[in-house]
Amino acid sequence: MSQRAAIILAAGQGTRMKSARPKVLHEVGGRAMLDWSIDLARRLECQRIIVVISPNSEELRAHVEATLGADAVAVQAQPLGTGHAVQAAEDALAGFKGDIVVLYGDTPLVPATVIDSLFQSLEDGAAIGVLGFEAAAPGHYGRLIMDKRGDLEAIVEAKEATPEQLEVTTCNSGVLACRAERMFSLLSQVRNDNAKGEYYLTDLPALAKVEGGATRVVICPEEDVMGADSRADLARAEAVFQTRRRNQALENGVTLIAPDTVWFAYDTIIEADVVLEPHIVFGPGVHVRSGAVIRAFSHLEGAHIGPDCQVGPYARLRPGTVLEQGARIGNFVEVKNTRIGKGAKAGHLSYLGDGDIGAGTNIGAGAIFCNYDGFFKYETKIDRDVFIGSNSALVAPVHVKEGAYIGSGSVVTGDVSKDALAVARARQKEIKGWAAAFRTRMRKKKEGKGNQ
Ligand code: UD1
Ligand code: MG
Repeated sequence: MSQRAAIILAAGQGTRMKSARPKVLHEVGGRAMLDWSIDLARRLECQRIIVVISPNSEELRAHVEATLGADAVAVQAQPLGTGHAVQAAEDALAGFKGDIVVLYGDTPLVPATVIDSLFQSLEDGAAIGVLGFEAAAPGHYGRLIMDKRGDLEAIVEAKEATPEQLEVTTCNSGVLACRAERMFSLLSQVRNDNAKGEYYLTDLPALAKVEGGATRVVICPEEDVMGADSRADLARAEAVFQTRRRNQALENGVTLIAPDTVWFAYDTIIEADVVLEPHIVFGPGVHVRSGAVIRAFSHLEGAHIGPDCQVGPYARLRPGTVLEQGARIGNFVEVKNTRIGKGAKAGHLSYLGDGDIGAGTNIGAGAIFCNYDGFFKYETKIDRDVFIGSNSALVAPVHVKEGAYIGSGSVVTGDVSKDALAVARARQKEIKGWAAAFRTRMRKKKEGKGNQ
């Protein structure tokens, strides 16, 4: 296999997104569109990944530098077209001899397999591999014009196309592969004497043909190359991603009672024999092990759910939550950065933050881990087989040792010994007959007033 590189175009202005944020940093499936393209390039084993950005996009530059390093950034000084944008990456790829694929930073749903076919077409002797699709509404897309033998003659931009060429429905996705040296030598021949006054990347096939180089077209479903220029496009791309993930989960043996109401993130892992009730949102970083049930209206992010656990309904699991086998989290319980040991339970109305809860422990309704003093966070450690009475506040740092009981309504500020009972609340006192005397007194007072 030849060495591979990817050039990801992200220098467009993205005005239709109407956003202060760069277009390619808007998310699909909980991940920036650009990061989908970067991930694709990585999965294709591209040794070099260059992202082309515009000069005054500091946020984008910072993102690329943090993800790929400073030498992955190429700046296109002016937006003079897609060909010009690819040329902007030439210096960054100086000395690279392998195959290059050009990807867009705003096209998040491209499968690796179709790009593999493009690279394969180069291995098979094509000068260029172009990714095309049958467009439902060809509109402004570049048209793939084939000759009588079925080889690609040229890509013609809609603005340049004749009426007959506009009839063609096989369109250019924009994704294209070519050997490095050839790509840059062809690009140096591209001129901007066209309708838009731009340097079109799409001129490459016709220029290659003059030199005797053939272009192979790989066709993929339109969905695969769906781009997002506006919020409406973004929502459509999200819908496609969600549909794919739901189908994949069903395929893998997950029960989804109402698939259309469950929302996945790009990296959600749900093992077989998990049941997902309706209306669940998975943020990034969730792994649900086999046999678990996630009940309706739960929100999970950065959480590991062990085998046979039960979560929800109406649970909120935040990053750092680890549920060990058979643990149960019930309604209106929020968990953050806390391990819940094997078979432990928190059934109702709790906040469990920065804690460690041992196996078999029971957290009563309304228990709160007071983990923050406005400056720092502290740990609540609860050993195994502890019983935390309802409506207790555990003021961290605090350690409740094995087998202990906490009386309901306690505010626990100190460690509790093994097998002890801690009660930290006012002692109950009773005044015999007080209520009856009170009622008599008040009734009299009211009647007196009524007579006035
Ligand atoms: C391009 C293709 C067209 C194809 C369509 C698919 C060309 C000339 N046309 O048209 O054949 O059907 O995509 O969506 O290539 N960009 C830069 N710098 C620039 C110009 C563009 O980085 O100077 C980036 C944009 O951010 C975008 C991508 O290149 O990600 C495509 O640019 P865009 O202007 O959307 O091209 P289209 O006119 O849609
Ligand atoms: Mg476009």
